[in-house]
Amino acid sequence: MTTETTASAAASGNAATDRFRQSGKTGAIAADVERVNLLASKLIKAANDIVLEERVSYDEFNALKAWLIKVGDDGEWPLFLDVWLEHSVEDVATSHREGNKGSIEGPYYVPGSPSQDSPAKISMRDDEKGTPLLFQGQVRSTDSSALKNAKIELWHADEEGFYSQFAPNIPEWNLRGTFIADAEGKFQIDTMQPAPYQIPTDGACGQLIAAAGWHAWRPAHLHLKVSAPGHELLTAQLYFPGDAHNDDDIATAVKPELLLDIQPAESGNGKQVTYDFVLDPEAK
Ligand code: DHB
Ligand code: FE
Repeated sequence: MTTETTASAAASGNAATDRFRQSGKTGAIAADVERVNLLASKLIKAANDIVLEERVSYDEFNALKAWLIKVGDDGEWPLFLDVWLEHSVEDVATSHREGNKGSIEGPYYVPGSPSQDSPAKISMRDDEKGTPLLFQGQVRSTDSSALKNAKIELWHADEEGFYSQFAPNIPEWNLRGTFIADAEGKFQIDTMQPAPYQIPTDGACGQLIAAAGWHAWRPAHLHLKVSAPGHELLTAQLYFPGDAHNDDDIATAVKPELLLDIQPAESGNGKQVTYDFVLDPEAK
């Protein structure tokens, strides 16, 4: 196979880096000198404390330098930060919520996926491999009222663990879509169960994982963004019971309330699952 047809860490990392550059998030904050001073000083102190406590050698220091340079060369900063840090940022951002708290966005979200009214089938190849999954539920507010025409964005990996737009030779919007719920906030989406996913192993992050004796797995998951006017955007992931990595996700992004209750499909074809979302009203 040529490099154009093989998924590689550098290709998916660089695609994730480009996506972040285009996301409008890069200049999101007007830096406050005191806040930068506080956070940067704490980060530098934490690193220095480790050096002193663990008596880090020059060889180790140079290995770190080489590795950090490689993270950039491979475009893996989004991947590194989303795997090892985003879960704490997400906890801070959503801890006040009464409704769903959610989970990390990860590096593979693309806005603007094709929109359809529910019930609908997500875009997929004619010969898409895997187990069909009917994903249905209702979107409500914290006062239990239905959120009419709530918007559900869904994206996930295919049966081989690859995401469209980040791995080669997959149609642009494959297994990505935007769905508009009905007047009672109810939705029904036909999709295909995703496979467990290994973060790329052939780049800098994979090198760290191998060198530290860790594993690279994330459990199989659906990614979602659920929104309705006047409500906080919910970014979530949903997981499949029994997955070997629900308890040791490399990205620490599984929460008990995010586990799906998968049932045989009433249609007789594959699986179905009902999951309801509760959104918090925006603070006045
Ligand atoms: C990564 C990939 C994901 O699919 C995800 O949900 C979180 C992180 C990653 O490769 O960094
Ligand atoms: Fe993912």
